[in-house]
Amino acid sequence: MNKLTADLTVSKAKLDEIADFFVKTATSSLAKQTERGIPMIPTYVTKLPTGKEKGVFLACDLGGTNFRCCSVVLNGDGTHKITQDKCHIPEEVLNAKSHVEFYDWLASCIGDFVAKQHPNWKSDQGKLRMGVTFSYPVNQTGLNRGTLVRWTKKVNVPDAVGRDVCVDFQTAMDRRNIPVYIAALINDTTGALLARSYMAGESVHTLLGMILGTGTNAAYMEDVAKITKLPAGTTQHKTMAVNTEWGSFDNDLQVLPTTRFDAAIDKLTLNPTVHMFEKRISGMFMGEILRQMLCELHGKGLIFKNLPAGSLDKPFGIDTATPSQIEADASSDNIEVKAIMRDVFGINPTSEEAHAVRKLSHGIGKRAAYLVAGAIGGVVNLTNALEKYQYIDIGGDGSVYEFYPGFEKHMREALRLLYGEATEKRFKFGIVKDGSGIGAALCASLSAEEA
Ligand code: BGC
Repeated sequence: MNKLTADLTVSKAKLDEIADFFVKTATSSLAKQTERGIPMIPTYVTKLPTGKEKGVFLACDLGGTNFRCCSVVLNGDGTHKITQDKCHIPEEVLNAKSHVEFYDWLASCIGDFVAKQHPNWKSDQGKLRMGVTFSYPVNQTGLNRGTLVRWTKKVNVPDAVGRDVCVDFQTAMDRRNIPVYIAALINDTTGALLARSYMAGESVHTLLGMILGTGTNAAYMEDVAKITKLPAGTTQHKTMAVNTEWGSFDNDLQVLPTTRFDAAIDKLTLNPTVHMFEKRISGMFMGEILRQMLCELHGKGLIFKNLPAGSLDKPFGIDTATPSQIEADASSDNIEVKAIMRDVFGINPTSEEAHAVRKLSHGIGKRAAYLVAGAIGGVVNLTNALEKYQYIDIGGDGSVYEFYPGFEKHMREALRLLYGEATEKRFKFGIVKDGSGIGAALCASLSAEEA
């Protein structure tokens, strides 16, 4: 047991190594497209909002399990109003036989939403401008152009890979005569970056938009001069947001800590050997890490002697909400932990067992937070942010960020190890609610300014 938790510990030396390796690999990916390295995808978003953007825009967001359609009013003073509908993506759409079937379902949701929220919109008024948040790696070739690199999380529509997301989506909407024009395609992290900047106003420089949910990723503003893989003359602007796709940081596992549980999980995934950073951190995986550890302890006869057969057998059978709720138990005698274990595993654990599960959940969450801090350190060092800005402002979103107890506290602990106490205090973390919707609308608005 102690050995298991020790294996989850991330030392100061390891944090330094992660931050250094991040700088090294990110720098080389800014210069040259990479197959296995961290992708560092240019987004064609060339400026951050000022807070003064105005207008009505549509936005939609394809996330891990839901598709959200939003209508966003930007008031021009850093505030906004958002109306949204959430559609649960059915299994048959997640595994659609063709891209046509897949985008047709997305288009039908947009059609229903527009009919409901903008019933009087006439096609002679032109098309409503929409920003699309697509939370998967897309190789962008323009603000509203980009080919899908791979699916992550739970979507599995192989023939959509390598195709232009906007073209296929727009074609599906045109087939249905939906009066909507895709003005911009962004990643949810770029959305978080833009939304946080809009809300913070001109006086604050937001360094990072970060998602810690079913998947994980971050986006930041980079000097165009450093993104040398961009074809010459791509833009006149000096900066561009980069979608790091840090879920794929260190796919070759040169510095990331790897336990036998991480290795076993990778084999169970739809995308083995890639997105290795994400598989140690995100909401899709932390519950599974706990399950793998408990299976081993149970198999060795060390815990849960009376476990009903099969309770721990199902891969991904433990949601990350479970270790998260376990970690939230504030009682000294693990009352909540015991109740959760009755519900989830169907057993009455002993106090020692409850204590053990709690320790593991703590270790899994803490390791994830430390690894995220290592990658944040990578972006901070890559951009020389500590020399340039007084505060390192980070906008975050996602279930792990919002609900996993102690996540920020642990990230801060790790940042203290990396930079010392005084510098850690210069980091500001804030939640960006609805970041993808607002960010996509902002992007549609910024693209209108440039059109
Ligand atoms: C995807 C990213 C996305 C992140 C958070 C990852 O699995 O590759 O594009 O930003 O999840 O949603």
